[in-house]
Amino acid sequence: MSETQATDTGRVAAVLARYPRHDPGDLVNILHDLQAEFRYLTETALQEAAAYLGLPPAQVYGVTTFYHGFHTEPRGEHTCTVCMGTACHVRGAPRLLEQLERDTGVAAGGTTPDLSLNVEEVSCVGACAIGPLVILDGDTHGHMTADDLSRLVTKLLDNEGRE
Ligand code: FES
Repeated sequence: MSETQATDTGRVAAVLARYPRHDPGDLVNILHDLQAEFRYLTETALQEAAAYLGLPPAQVYGVTTFYHGFHTEPRGEHTCTVCMGTACHVRGAPRLLEQLERDTGVAAGGTTPDLSLNVEEVSCVGACAIGPLVILDGDTHGHMTADDLSRLVTKLLDNEGRE
């Protein structure tokens, strides 16, 4: 076992220890916690969660595909989500997404190769009055223009590169 695998196994064990009942009913919560720990659900995490709960691995994998929010591929450190709901759409959201895709070289749903940024799109988030909007790492930025978005993301990734 490599050092990384051993570390991952320890981190998985620490998450599982929060659920001492070994109750299969805790599976979704466990997967959420594991994803928060690793930013995505690693192979090791899924296998160990299945063993811990006494569930067939196929059942655990099934849950990851059923719920939209689970990721089984490596995820970027930051996430930029463009709202593509109707109100944002008519106010220019497609131009925002195109700009973001151009700036990052990644299509919606993808992650930059250096794992710095996830590019996402979403339907209405209930803040139509300030559309078009993007959500960057949980912060909502309304009345966005393609230039604003470009500056925002470039600044974030430049700062990242300097750290
Ligand atoms: S359509 Fe974007 S917030 Fe409602």
